[in-house]
Amino acid sequence: MATSTAQIQSEFSNPNLEVLISTEEIKNRIQALGSQIAREYAGRNPLLIGVLKGACFFLSDLLRAIDIPLGIEFMAISSYGSSTRTSGEVRILKDLDVAIENRHIIVVEDIVDTGLTLSYLLANLKSRGAASVKLVALLDKFERREREVEIDYLGFQIPDHFVVGYGLDFAERYRNLPFIAVLKNPDAAQLGLPISTTE
Ligand code: IMP
Ligand code: MG
Repeated sequence: MATSTAQIQSEFSNPNLEVLISTEEIKNRIQALGSQIAREYAGRNPLLIGVLKGACFFLSDLLRAIDIPLGIEFMAISSYGSSTRTSGEVRILKDLDVAIENRHIIVVEDIVDTGLTLSYLLANLKSRGAASVKLVALLDKFERREREVEIDYLGFQIPDHFVVGYGLDFAERYRNLPFIAVLKNPDAAQLGLPISTTE
């Protein structure tokens, strides 16, 4: 039987990626956030709501760092418009399966960019009669903000670069990276072409 000798092309050491936040830094920050949330929500049985798909990775690590009883739910949301300019209109693709009246809600998001998605989502959840609604975000691209969004618990502030990894994608690629990286050449990234390491 013929065996394939095709070389495995490593995604994690792809030369088109420049590591911005390492696996270790993410892990340490999440431990600190988890401890803080556990202290502040003790006895309140918070409901963590993850925004699909990007926040799943952050949510799954974060909740294991919060050592108190809690629940999790997911929502999927889409913004109208192209990926670079959104109109500010937001659509719920997958809603919650439970009522959230009188619950203490913690929305878990991967990144706050323009803030359009989160300002809509937070207002929407508050209108459903939650006891409280707070936000934990792994990344804050503060220079691009168009709507004010209060981030109650933040992982890292980052400069205005397009980042991938640890749940964040570029055309659905790179979510599996165990670190956060800047894409050096987005055109090549989308086509999946080999990148010259000499540039
Ligand atoms: P906002 O409504 O502009 O704040 O958009 C937030 C959403 O845009 C995030 O949940 C991400 O899905 C996506 N996004 C914004 N910036 C980046 C980035 O640098 N890399 C990957 N996705 C991003
Ligand atoms: Mg995305």
